[in-house]
Amino acid sequence: MEAPPRALDLLPKVDLHCHLEGTMRPTTVVELARKNGVPLPTEDPAELYAYSSLDEFLAVFWLVQSTLADRDDWARLAYEAVTDSARHGVVHQECFVTPARHRDGGQHLGAVLSGIAEGLDAAEAETGTTCRLIVDMDRAFGPEAGRQLVEELVDLRSARSPGTERVIGVGMDSTELGVDSTSYAPAYDVARRAGLRLTGHQGENSTAQQVADCIDALGLERVDHGVPVLDSAVLTARMVEERIPITVCPTSNVVVAHCFDRLEDHVLPHMRAAGLLATVNTDDPALSDLDLGREYAAVSRAFGWGWEQMVQVALDGIEASWLDDSEKADLRALVAMTEEPSR
Ligand code: ADE
Ligand code: ZN
Repeated sequence: MEAPPRALDLLPKVDLHCHLEGTMRPTTVVELARKNGVPLPTEDPAELYAYSSLDEFLAVFWLVQSTLADRDDWARLAYEAVTDSARHGVVHQECFVTPARHRDGGQHLGAVLSGIAEGLDAAEAETGTTCRLIVDMDRAFGPEAGRQLVEELVDLRSARSPGTERVIGVGMDSTELGVDSTSYAPAYDVARRAGLRLTGHQGENSTAQQVADCIDALGLERVDHGVPVLDSAVLTARMVEERIPITVCPTSNVVVAHCFDRLEDHVLPHMRAAGLLATVNTDDPALSDLDLGREYAAVSRAFGWGWEQMVQVALDGIEASWLDDSEKADLRALVAMTEEPSR
């Protein structure tokens, strides 16, 4: 029987696939748009949040991103992201930020990261929820822009620029259609040499072969989405054997990329039954009217997973995180202290 939603909201959880810009509250979208002179097609941006494809979603995501004009805006976004997720039991998150559009518009990566860090510092002090960053390349800007972004990030880290201490890895997101993601290998090489962790969105709108090619060519340590992995027995066996995590975003795969008509049709149960380290995450919670507590409840309901199974989902998220062993042990202890709800 499914677990009670309130208990799942309180269960300590990690979110490993969440776009910082996709956490922006609708009220904040309106206020920043006003402050920065960005025209919005409506006063209630939530009216825009219905998508028929990933690329249609990305147009809205880019509009939301365009409201972020200065360091203070990034600080506010980061503060609100963590205080909002903490209210739903998130104790640790590894958030993407995708600043290609902002760099193109003249913002400096150093200012973006130091603004985000200021917001995260304040939110962490208030909530205890930790947040680290993954700087994502935007595939709409091409592999050369991606390489330049990673080079700049590495230079800023060497100079100990504020906020870079929060960055643990790099990734890539945005459109998959017509893109050969392996062309991002030079950027990933720069990141690997600098000791950054490596992930990437693949398999939201592409094949199992493309996921396998990315693991091989880019050295991905995690795969973001990875929806078609089970289509390849060879890839599945490899990911099981090497425990390469998949950061699955079940509701997003229904409402953003339309990989499935209903949550009940999602392959997540088959992934987990096959032994894959398939975790549960939000993607763009504010743009799909979601939080991680509700996502756990939706998954529990759709697949009939009870408390023990949902606790295992939470523990798998901890395993898949890029925390060190003692940090993981601390989070596992938090989960263990959470009592099974009485009915
Ligand atoms: N950027 C923000 N959300 C995304 C998603 N679901 N897929 C690709 N790029 C994204
Ligand atoms: Zn995503």
